[in-house]
Amino acid sequence: MKFLTLDDIEFAHKTALVRVDLNVPVKDRKVSDDSRIQSLLPTISHLLSKKTKIVLISHFGRPSGPDASLSLKFLVPDLEKAFDFKVDFIAECIGDAVKKSLKEAPYPSITLLENLRFYEGEEKNDPLFSKDLADLADIYVNDAFSCSHRAHASVVGITKYLPSVAGRSLQSELVHLEQCLATPKHPLVAIVAGSKISTKLELLENLCQKVDTLIIGGAMANTMLAAKGLDVGQSLYEPNLLDIARKILKNTTATIILPEDVVISDELSETASTQIVNVHDIPKDKKAFDIGPKTVKKIKDTLKNAKTVVWNGPVGAFEFAPFAEASISIAKTLADLTQQNQCMSVAGGGDTLAVLALAGVKDKLSYVSTAGGAFLEWLEGKTLPGVEALEQNGLPLL
Ligand code: 3PG
Repeated sequence: MKFLTLDDIEFAHKTALVRVDLNVPVKDRKVSDDSRIQSLLPTISHLLSKKTKIVLISHFGRPSGPDASLSLKFLVPDLEKAFDFKVDFIAECIGDAVKKSLKEAPYPSITLLENLRFYEGEEKNDPLFSKDLADLADIYVNDAFSCSHRAHASVVGITKYLPSVAGRSLQSELVHLEQCLATPKHPLVAIVAGSKISTKLELLENLCQKVDTLIIGGAMANTMLAAKGLDVGQSLYEPNLLDIARKILKNTTATIILPEDVVISDELSETASTQIVNVHDIPKDKKAFDIGPKTVKKIKDTLKNAKTVVWNGPVGAFEFAPFAEASISIAKTLADLTQQNQCMSVAGGGDTLAVLALAGVKDKLSYVSTAGGAFLEWLEGKTLPGVEALEQNGLPLL
């Protein structure tokens, strides 16, 4: 790895802007899986021991401007508990008021700033926003491997203005992914699902040239089914991505497994009444929220023959019990196969980790990454923009 790390720089009595990924899975305003927070402990402990002023920056969700429901403030108690240290919150990311508060903070201290995506400069990688962020600190630390596929201001742009190093979690993710997947044994099977359709569908185009079998579930599968001409009723899908979906189906050399049956309902709730139907029979007024038992069996049979399995994204709306069955059952099968040494398994992504926890198998896979999209892009063989920026702009040393 050609970037600097925490060990290459003097942090004593410095202010460090630490990019973390607090885009954690949440249900009823409560964190349902805190792996992304726990993964920060090695970096936070190191910086606290060096008496550093730590300024945490992160995004949460995909707001298109300020949105009180996506404020990061609610995470303060979770962070304080995990770090066993007081965490202050500032409801802005840049500007004089932030600078003033940070100036008054002691060494060591931890301050969390507001959701970066409340500022349009973040996703645009706007140099002015990067510079405004950089003005708050002496050093930049990227400890968000799971965001390093985003060429955003807090991941890429900022490295031009501050000495920049990798945090412990980012470093460890790269080491482990390399160990498990640099030369994967075949058949290599990928399960890609979840609700983030638009950003992941394009990624599938490359991924399906690398894997032997691609299993697609979740909302993404609805787009693929619609691309094949099926009526998906009221199910969530992306009409503007149908062409890409068709291209993937036409050009791939991989075997693609799509749902054959689905669990449908009117509503997404704990008490939803459900029905299992063939994908050709989805009623016009219903929505598919999970894959059905026939599809689950086909997936399990495929996994039994795999030598390497990578998994990103639950195959159903697992947050609600009536639609969690397929994801939990796949998690358990994958854990069993791994424990029997039949395959190497790597799973990643906030929601995927939550499913593994729900199934009670989080420590039974070969490796579990905090990253979802970033891990898939890494698997495609891409150098992630955030990692590249660290490699190019790490110097000068303080
Ligand atoms: C993730 O959850 O994979 C990261 O936090 C990135 O989120 P994004 O896909 O909204 O950029």
